Amino acid sequence: MRSYTLIAPAKINLYLEIISDAYGGLRQRPDGYHELAMILQSIELADKIHIKSLSAETIRVNCNHPQVPTDQSNLAYRAAALMAAQFPQALAEYGGVEITINKHIPVAAGLAGGSTNAAAVLMGIDLLWNLGLTKSELEELGATLGSDIPFCVAGGTVIATGRGEQLSPLASLDTIYIVLAKYRSLEVSTAWAYKTYRQEFGNSALRDSENLAARAAAVHSEAIVKAILNQNPGEIAAKLHNDLERVVLPAYPQVLHLRELFASQPQVLGTMMSGSGPTVFALVESEEQAQAVKLQMRAAIPDEDLELFVTRTITQGIHLASSV
Ligand code: C5P
Repeated sequence: MRSYTLIAPAKINLYLEIISDAYGGLRQRPDGYHELAMILQSIELADKIHIKSLSAETIRVNCNHPQVPTDQSNLAYRAAALMAAQFPQALAEYGGVEITINKHIPVAAGLAGGSTNAAAVLMGIDLLWNLGLTKSELEELGATLGSDIPFCVAGGTVIATGRGEQLSPLASLDTIYIVLAKYRSLEVSTAWAYKTYRQEFGNSALRDSENLAARAAAVHSEAIVKAILNQNPGEIAAKLHNDLERVVLPAYPQVLHLRELFASQPQVLGTMMSGSGPTVFALVESEEQAQAVKLQMRAAIPDEDLELFVTRTITQGIHLASSV
């Protein structure tokens, strides 16, 4: 029986705008989500997902990280359950699946760690069961499980609109080095961040719903998109944006402090919180500078609870490491 090992990269948000109309009206969609315009970027920091067949028609999840559940609350488990429900004949023919997650991406961090694991499971089962699904079919399946999963399947540098599932790829970015900072014990609920944003900054009466689509489309002409197309790291760094910082930074002073510390380092081109946080990232020009920034952060905050990573932009999403 074949087995597959897949690389499941994390992401950062170079841009995250919660779309409102010209009067500050914010729409919570009928599905409870918010309209977004984002630029998502795959990074080299990744989990490794091993998938193999089981003789019984069951799903088993193993993970080396104590904080990651192995039951149905794990998005990777739900991805396997979705494939089993969609393709019952393949389940009967090939049996169940055992999924082993080797975690390197911090959990509940705004880096799409859970989503990228689920995306890898969709792709791994597609291979294991010889389904021959296209990328867009996998993205569509993924969208039913979580907003970031289609991007994790696609990878690279992408404009994402709708609730994050409508993708428009941008040209691949040349390598930019990144330093990530996250307190291990700090987690931010994504649902809380969006709800608080809506309560604090949304004028709930949406008066101009047509304007929303126009606003979402306008992200294509944002300065940061031009900077990406021009391969200009300094300009990209100057145009980073994340609306959710407006609610997360005041509520979590530690996150604000990380951001201020990054901003004070001469090598840092720009810094921003990723997604709903609490990870903060800094863009730098070279690996040496990234290592220097990491050392400076460590010296400023000797707390072992603070995790620091040096990573870089990559141009692909889920990919195969090996098959046996
Ligand atoms: O789709 P996902 O499960 O990753 O989203 C987590 C939570 O974030 C949702 O339950 C929702 O509360 C919030 N969210 C949102 N609008 C989006 C994406 C996420 O309100 N576009």
